[in-house]
This record gives sequence, structure tokens and C-alpha cells, in this order.
Amino acid sequence: HNLHPERVGEYGFDLGAALGDHAHQLQAARDALWSRKADPAEFLGWIDVPEDTETLREILRYREANDWVEELVVLGIGGSALGAQAVNAALGRGPVRLHFVDNVEPEPIAQLLRTLEPGKTLVNVISKSGSTAETMAAFLAFRKWLEDALGDAWKKHVVVTTDPAKGILRPYAKSEGLAAFDIPPAVGGRFSVTCPVGTLPSAFVGVDLENLLAGARKANHTARDALEQNLPAQTALIQYLAAAQGLNITVFMPYSTRLRFLPDWFVQLHDESLGKMLDRQGREVRSGTTAVRAIGTTDQHAQVQLFREGPHDKLITLVRLEHPSEDLEIPAVKGLEGLDYLFGKSFFHLLTAEAKATAHALAKAGQPNYTILLEKLDAYHLGWLLQHLMWQTAFLGELWNINAFDQPGVELGKEYTYALMGRKGYEKLAAELKSEGVE
Ligand code: PA5
Repeated sequence: HNLHPERVGEYGFDLGAALGDHAHQLQAARDALWSRKADPAEFLGWIDVPEDTETLREILRYREANDWVEELVVLGIGGSALGAQAVNAALGRGPVRLHFVDNVEPEPIAQLLRTLEPGKTLVNVISKSGSTAETMAAFLAFRKWLEDALGDAWKKHVVVTTDPAKGILRPYAKSEGLAAFDIPPAVGGRFSVTCPVGTLPSAFVGVDLENLLAGARKANHTARDALEQNLPAQTALIQYLAAAQGLNITVFMPYSTRLRFLPDWFVQLHDESLGKMLDRQGREVRSGTTAVRAIGTTDQHAQVQLFREGPHDKLITLVRLEHPSEDLEIPAVKGLEGLDYLFGKSFFHLLTAEAKATAHALAKAGQPNYTILLEKLDAYHLGWLLQHLMWQTAFLGELWNINAFDQPGVELGKEYTYALMGRKGYEKLAAELKSEGVE
């Protein structure tokens, strides 16, 4: 897991010097995170989750006991869906087909209900709070669809992933005798990919979960290391210094179609954790940078024009692989000699050349970027990368002196929705909205 920061070095960041200048701050951040981990109110439970092999065994037993499943529908949104979606796209190999319902647009839901066979479908409803309107509306629809088709047997076709104590889903699962897994109380949604939120759906598509968790544990070791080895402290520092220089956008760009949902997961992790109005002392800070998704090479033919020639208000993180899992030779064809520079080369060679060329072209234009190199795309390295990015986010929260584990900014929108939908207790807010022309 090498970091190639020299591109950053050319444009204002000397990583070695910056580490020296910020050693005290970074060490304090690292020590604070490790020492606060024991306090559930700090929401640092994601650090220990990869150690929990007992829960993993339960997940694997549940998967084995349900070998009749052909379609798995995940009902969840935000942190309750994006991790499993990223892991499935990267490593899923069937035979179960995964479907994610993470919106309430009626047409796709109706289409899915028309297409699936209830008898072959397992519905995994994932909600830590048990109160998210989108997820619960979808659950009401899928539960009825199953019951209408299967009668009392619907209960075998639902598995609940929720908080062990809080919210309405846990007692409901208990009273109906539904299978249920815990989201540990000290783990927030966007930090939940290594707990049953991510591992249960991933188990059904054959992901090597033991290695996924082993990779995450490796990232934990690195996050404890001295600063010279501590990669999340280093990438967080680069992100922090870039923001301090006015680079308000952070682009996350893996060179991999299999990693196509990883930027979506990262955008949610980064933006919801770090975009905060107040610091830990309640002072207005308006922290954060805006994470943007890109995929190489695809977006070389789209966003890279802007990245090179538009405003240099970005820091770009490229992710590329050192080795492919499988490669293909580009064949020679008579009559197309204009393409002979490709003949006999491999697709992976071309992919790598494109990533290196783009990183350098961006640097030449004065657009800072760095590359994270993954040895290969397997469960171990993906687990490492996911946990690394969670650590980077936690370090950034410390550097900005904000709470990276809450999301007060999304509450008012939720309350307005309740008011507009006529939820009991929200009558006053509904009247206020009406007086403001929203109904
Ligand atoms: O990261 C988060 O905390 C959020 O994105 C949540 O995951 C999202 O709001 C869904 O919440 P819940 O799992 O309670 O339904």
C-alpha cells in the first residue's frame, strides 16, 4: 500500500517536512482516537469490529443455512447500503443476485417487485435507527409483497440488521421471530461496512470475508504506527493542508470499473463526517471539503478536462492496482497498423499507462494529486482500503477539531419530511412550512 506523494511534493507539499511540522498535532490525533475508542459515546466502535470473528461466523452460518436464496434485496440508505454495494461490485461473484433499494422512486421499486419471485427472495432490511422513512417505506412494501405471496412463511424471507436495543425494528423482529443481526451501538452507518451491514449481503455473493476483515485489521495496525509509517495520518495531513490552501474539492478516482461504487461510499463517508458548522467547542468553523467521484479511465474523457484546465481548487486521489487478477492481450490486426503501439500489449499495461499519464499530466498543469497503489484487488486489499479511508476521515475530524461521527445537518430535512407526510407530533412544523409556502 504505497503512497506516491511526489506529485503533491512538486506543488507545495513536502510530505516529510509537513509531517515534522505537524507531528505534535498528528500524534495527539492518533492518541486521542485510540484512547477514546473505549467510550461508546465516541462512535469509534468501527476500529474493533474487524476483530469480531464470532459475529462473522454467525453470518457465515446464516448464509449456509439459507442456500435457497437466489435474489437478495437490501433495503437501506446511506451508510446502510453503500458499503455492501461497493464490496459487491468489487468482489461479488454470485450466484445470488443482489439488489439495492436505496431510494423511494416508485417505478424502480414496482419494477423490482414485478421481476422477483418471492419464494426465491431474501429481504435484508438494514437500519440502525429503524426510523429512516425511505428504508421503512420499502420494508412495508416488501413485507406485504412477501406475505401476500407466501403467507406466514414470509418470516423466513426477511433478515433484519439493526441496533441491538434502540429503535422499533429490533422489538418487531423479536415479536415476529425474524432473523436479526446487530449493528454495534458504537458504530455509525457510514463506518459500518465491516459489521453485518456490509458482511451479511457480501456473504451471499461469496466475498472472502475473513480476508476482508484481516485487511481492515492491517489498516488498524498502520493507524497505530509512528507517523513515518502511519499512512492514514499522512493522507489526512495532505487533505488537511490542501484544504488550508483553498483546495475545497477532493476527488476520489480509482482506476477500476470493479471499484466503481467505492467513490460513492467515500463521498458519503467524507462529506457526512467532515462537513460541520461547529467545532467541538461549539465555535462556527464550517469545516470540510467536497468529495467528488471519478473513475479512471472513463472520466479521463469527461472530468479530466476540467481537472487540468479548470480552477485548481482540487486535490485528486488516484487509486490504482499493481497487478491484475486476470489480463488480456490486445491482438494485432492487419490493416490497422496505426494501432501497432497497442499490438501485443496487455489491457492492464494500457490501464496502468493511462493512470500514470493522467497523474503526471495533472501535476504538470499544477493540479495536485497523489496515487494510492494497491497490490491487487482482492478481499484483503479492499478491506485494508476501506478501513484506511475510515481512519483518514477520523484523523481529519481530529485535525479540524470537529465530531466526525454525527450528522446534525441532515436532521431538519428529515423533520420537514415528517411534517409534510403528516406524522404525529409534527403538526406545528407542518403549519410553519405551510406559512412559508411549502406543503
Ligand atoms: O452514515 C450515516 O449515519 C447515515 O448515512 C445513515 O447510514 C443513514 O442515514 C441511514 O440510517 P439508518 O441506518 O438509521 O436507517
